[in-house]
Amino acid sequence: MGRFEGKSALVTGAASGMGRATTLAFANEGANVLAVDIDADGLATLATEAAEASGSVVTHHAAIGTCDAGHAAVAAAVEAFGGLDVLANVAGVVRSAHTVDVTEDDWNLMFSVNVSGMFWLCQAALGAFDGGGVIVNVASNAGLMGPGLFRATAHPRGGGQPDQGAGHGVRQGQQHPHQRACSGSDRNADDRHHRAAHRL
Ligand SMILES: NC(=O)c1ccc[n+]([C@@H]2O[C@H](COP(=O)([O-])OP(=O)(O)OC[C@H]3O[C@@H](n4cnc5c(N)ncnc54)[C@H](O)[C@@H]3O)[C@@H](O)[C@H]2O)c1
Repeated sequence: MGRFEGKSALVTGAASGMGRATTLAFANEGANVLAVDIDADGLATLATEAAEASGSVVTHHAAIGTCDAGHAAVAAAVEAFGGLDVLANVAGVVRSAHTVDVTEDDWNLMFSVNVSGMFWLCQAALGAFDGGGVIVNVASNAGLMGPGLFRATAHPRGGGQPDQGAGHGVRQGQQHPHQRACSGSDRNADDRHHRAAHRL
């Protein structure tokens, strides 16, 4: 029997990298997972990969970042599985640039996905947990020491999630991964980042 048999989870950023690995790990341990991502092709591939899992993966194609999107995703999980036990906020975007080069679009995109998306999903999950639940927010070591724009969104993501679940059976935690070889880190290694770092 899998460790997550009978549990339901919602994972954002499920089409790629750590979110994909998290989704498959949950499903292989028996969980029912709502896999949320903006990347429809990646979700379709994930669904195929999860076909043999002892749990199940239901895909939910959406862009997180707004209150409506967060609450709609949690509602979809509750409707599909009858409840929610785990929320994993893994979706994130990285636009590394020297402070003087940061554009308003990049700033707004990173705060929308990395901070607002995380917050509204936490709010919706706290309302959906029935007697307890677990929230894990994937932040970054960049929240402690990284380049300015990324640090600005990774720091609140690591420490700013709602804490009203404490005392109601809700456990919350953060992960602060170092740079890893997945698509996010590939983008992170683009020329802009290196040029910016050398200008300091
Ligand atoms: N890879 C690293 O080295 C590293 C290091 C530190 C922190 N992180 C953080 O870990 C998390 C996962 O990193 P990764 O490398 O697996 O990333 P990744 O780029 O491989 O995956 C991120 C996923 O989020 C999805 N996404 C982006 N915007 C979205 C939106 N608005 N709505 C729904 N889905 C959206 C993307 O489509 C993608 O599938 C991110 O939050 C990242 O910032 C990664």
